[in-house]
Amino acid sequence: MINRTIHIDYEEYSSAEEMIPQDRELVAAAMEAMKGSYSPYSKFQVGAALRLEDGTIVKGANQENVAYPAGLCAERTAMFAAGANYPDTPFDTLAIVGADHWVVCESPASPCGSCRQVMAEYQKKQGKPFRIILVGSKKIRKFFRVDDLLPLIFDSLKA
Ligand code: THU
Repeated sequence: MINRTIHIDYEEYSSAEEMIPQDRELVAAAMEAMKGSYSPYSKFQVGAALRLEDGTIVKGANQENVAYPAGLCAERTAMFAAGANYPDTPFDTLAIVGADHWVVCESPASPCGSCRQVMAEYQKKQGKPFRIILVGSKKIRKFFRVDDLLPLIFDSLKA
């Protein structure tokens, strides 16, 4: 038996002001995207902004349904919209922001397991990593590959 450790590198910022201009712009776009949240059940709003490699920004927001499982998370609405409308343009960076009753959470909202698996699929499709920025009002985390949010990714049906 061997004990092994999985190491996750990420950057932490106390505000978007500390970030490079491109990231700051994407954080602002995620905040803007949140306005499209339809969240009458959870009252939890999530916005996502996905920058593609050519600079296009695709926005998404959580969409709920009275039959709960029929709803969809913000980051998946953005990724699926990008996948459907720009199938050949790789993802560069995905920013996600969560709010409780329209007040941005102090600590960044963390994507659910299904969204991480969808990120993994697009990363696999494009053959190179993309960045993920999780935004809170007091803390922002920046990851450099999906693997850092989903270690030991399931990405192959082969042994
Ligand atoms: N939600 C997202 O949109 N993204 C996440 O990363 C976590 C959760 C949504 C789903 C649901 O509409 C609400 O937040 C509460 O779970």
